[in-house]
Amino acid sequence: MFGKLINILRENPKKIVFPEGTDNRILEASSRLLASNFLTPVLIGNEEEVFKAAANSGFNINGITVVDPEKYDRMDEMIELFCELRKSKGVTPEDAEKILKKSNYFGTMLVKMGEADALLGGATYSTADTVRPALQLIKAKPGKNIVSSCFILVRERATGNNEVIAMADCAININPTEDEIVEISLEAVECARTFGIDPKVAFLSYSTLGSGKGETVEKMRNACRKAKEKAPDIPMEGEIQFDAAVAPRVARSKCPDSDVGGHANTFIFPDINAGNIGYKIAQRFGGFDAYGPILLGLNAPINDLSRGCNAAEVYSMAIVTAALA
Ligand SMILES: CC(C)(COP(=O)(O)OP(=O)(O)OC[C@H]1O[C@@H](n2cnc3c(N)ncnc32)[C@H](O)[C@@H]1OP(=O)(O)O)[C@@H](O)C(=O)NCCC(=O)NCCS
Repeated sequence: MFGKLINILRENPKKIVFPEGTDNRILEASSRLLASNFLTPVLIGNEEEVFKAAANSGFNINGITVVDPEKYDRMDEMIELFCELRKSKGVTPEDAEKILKKSNYFGTMLVKMGEADALLGGATYSTADTVRPALQLIKAKPGKNIVSSCFILVRERATGNNEVIAMADCAININPTEDEIVEISLEAVECARTFGIDPKVAFLSYSTLGSGKGETVEKMRNACRKAKEKAPDIPMEGEIQFDAAVAPRVARSKCPDSDVGGHANTFIFPDINAGNIGYKIAQRFGGFDAYGPILLGLNAPINDLSRGCNAAEVYSMAIVTAALA
């Protein structure tokens, strides 16, 4: 999977901003990226502190670009644009100056101003603090009502070719409505395709085709029906239980006529509790590597790391993020 993404980047190299420039894992991944010819890392922070942190940990980042919010030569322009973008909230230049000292907001504005193509944060910032500036400043693409997210999960098979599945929305929308689930599913289909998945979509529930009752059962059933109307060529099933979605034997008894049952590879969850717990079970018990959350529907690629990430995950997510640019 990564070979393909790196080839895309080799043809069209990108710049990626890391707001947490002194973090060890960011520095290690940046030193690896710097040695590559497909992705240019840009670190935010005080130059002296960044180089000192790298030297202390033994990472070579010679030649890297470090941008310090305190010394940024286009700060006046950035403040003006920030106020313009947030004018409905009555943000003053004094407010903007204060907010832009924070590297999550400053980094997001570097992307907005075209100084970088993508951003990867969240090694120390929470998901909310990484995502909020993107929602406020980069915003959803025209025609999209929400930004959502998808995890790509990859597990090695003994045969060599990897098993790749998609799960959404496990990280952003806390309790999406029926129509938001429709939007999430269509975005997840696109994301799945980007990673080489031929999507078969399961709208997950505790019920399969009417076996159980409840508001969320209806939400998933109706969302599936509406999504099918919008994308009739994509195999979709819902509402469906996880076992019926992935186990052919269970599917034969619970939904024998389904073209998705037993073979689903793109999973849509009813809410963030189910999604977040679900992908972590696949990761911790199922032996899948998890890449994400990959934000969907944003005007520019900005992604979030888990605070428990390691340098290899930062490196991989940087490639995923930049390839989406
Ligand atoms: C994503 C999240 C941070 C946004 O909520 P928030 O910080 O309370 O932000 P607000 O509701 O104040 O919204 C901030 C802006 O983002 C916009 N926004 C919020 N959610 C959005 C969404 N899903 N899509 C698009 N825009 C959204 C709002 O409209 C608002 O825009 P405005 O300031 O221009 O009016 C929140 O939904 C959240 O915490 N989600 C869960 C994150 C999490 O903990 N994940 C688990 C770990 S992976």
